[in-house]
Amino acid sequence: MTDRLIIFDTTLRDGEQSPGAAMTKAEKIRIAKALERLKVDVIEAGFPIASPGDFEAVQAVARTIKDSTVCGLSRTGDADIDRAYEALKDAPSYRIHTFIATSPIHMQKKLKMEPDEVFEAAVRAVKRARNYTDNVEFSCEDSSRSEFEFLSRIVEAVIAAGATTINLPDTVGYAVPEQYGDFIRRIMSNVPNSDKAVFSVHCHNDLGLAVGNSLAAVMNGARQVECTINGLGERAGNASLEEIVMAVRTRKDYFPCETRIETTEIMNCSRLVSTITGFPVQPNKAIVGANAFAHESGIHQDGVLKHRETYEIMRAQDVGLNSNRIVLGKLSGRNALRTRLKELGIEFQSEQDMNETFKRFKDLADRKTEIYDEDLQALVSDSATEIANEHIRLVSLRVRTETGETPRATLVLSIGGDERTAEADGDGPVDAAYRAIEQIMDSGVQLQLYSVNAITTGTDSQGEVTVRLERAGRIVNGQGADTDIIVASVKAYLNALNKILFPVHREHPQTA
Ligand code: KIV
Ligand code: ZN
Repeated sequence: MTDRLIIFDTTLRDGEQSPGAAMTKAEKIRIAKALERLKVDVIEAGFPIASPGDFEAVQAVARTIKDSTVCGLSRTGDADIDRAYEALKDAPSYRIHTFIATSPIHMQKKLKMEPDEVFEAAVRAVKRARNYTDNVEFSCEDSSRSEFEFLSRIVEAVIAAGATTINLPDTVGYAVPEQYGDFIRRIMSNVPNSDKAVFSVHCHNDLGLAVGNSLAAVMNGARQVECTINGLGERAGNASLEEIVMAVRTRKDYFPCETRIETTEIMNCSRLVSTITGFPVQPNKAIVGANAFAHESGIHQDGVLKHRETYEIMRAQDVGLNSNRIVLGKLSGRNALRTRLKELGIEFQSEQDMNETFKRFKDLADRKTEIYDEDLQALVSDSATEIANEHIRLVSLRVRTETGETPRATLVLSIGGDERTAEADGDGPVDAAYRAIEQIMDSGVQLQLYSVNAITTGTDSQGEVTVRLERAGRIVNGQGADTDIIVASVKAYLNALNKILFPVHREHPQTA
């Protein structure tokens, strides 16, 4: 008998906790729709009490998604649980996910609570959540460093209080596969009512073992895995969804379960998350890296050409590579664009938004002959970015470069509607443009990362630039795309500057 393995995606919550990966409501909706097409069972949309913006984003996802359960995170306090319910209640299917830390170090140093107080808070939270829904998940934060008997006692009590999913996270990525698998098996057999709940795992990747640990848990009875697209997440990230799903699928001879994931949507989700968050995917990343299905060595190529299975254990098209690469161009009309965007899960709230995107599409098509799906994703992201950029916007840019001469940039910015001009020299054209921006803004930010990626192949490809800025300990990412990489660089810098200069206060779920 093959069991169902529940795929719980937390890209929009734990993934978003990566420094600089914060997403807007519109971005969260786009990713949620892509996750729905991927057929994930549960989408953790955020932490509703974190800020009014987070609440609205979870609510918008709850009102949009029909085919996956939408989940909201809450600590054990009444206000957290009530807020999660308010954000989720319009979803056809929703789950409240409440958690508290159970390890001695977290209880003593972070929560400053006695184990009995933690026990009571957990039971009380689950009961409160059960007043709103019969789909309640309880997580014992830092479970892999928790004391076994205490953990068993709390798990038994929250199941008795109505928790239907028990999640045992390896919060700090400390576990190793054999030991963690054994731990899951022992807890499940030690807790008398464990058959009344689905056991779940949530592994962080600090030692590079998140996927290995999750799969070891699956072999020992866990039937839900919490994971993220591209392995995004706090610090070194979470278990990568695509790796878990493809491991279980490719080795169905070994794993006693299957998922309902539509694997051909994997690449689309991966690209979308990377574009929106500005976290590039490393080329040798399993499943979704640019090299994952490329064969460099002559011997491998020869083998693959003779018989694919000599070196390939999965088919590229099964993860959505090379499929449906419909190319649009200069002559494509509004309908072709609208149809392709719809297939990519992008729909517009108003005709005005569609008109604006069509204008931008035509402008791009004038500069670039073939427009691929990746270009469209960037085009739409860029429009969303432009909206976020409203306060500081690029009006015009002129850059002069010549061999042997110092590059010079002249730019005009609109700041809340007032136009300001600056001119600066730099080590290169991007440096000159950034210096000109700072002449006007004097923002005090530190540039921590600057990276350019070609969105597609060819020298006419759009460059997608990601910058990471830091100010007073706060980190944000900014993105920009354009066929002119200097313009893309300026857009990315302004995108990040807008976020860092006009911050929104958000509560972090895992601080005390
Ligand atoms: O890593 C963790 O323990 C978490 C919990 C909030 C589930 O993200
Ligand atoms: Zn986590």
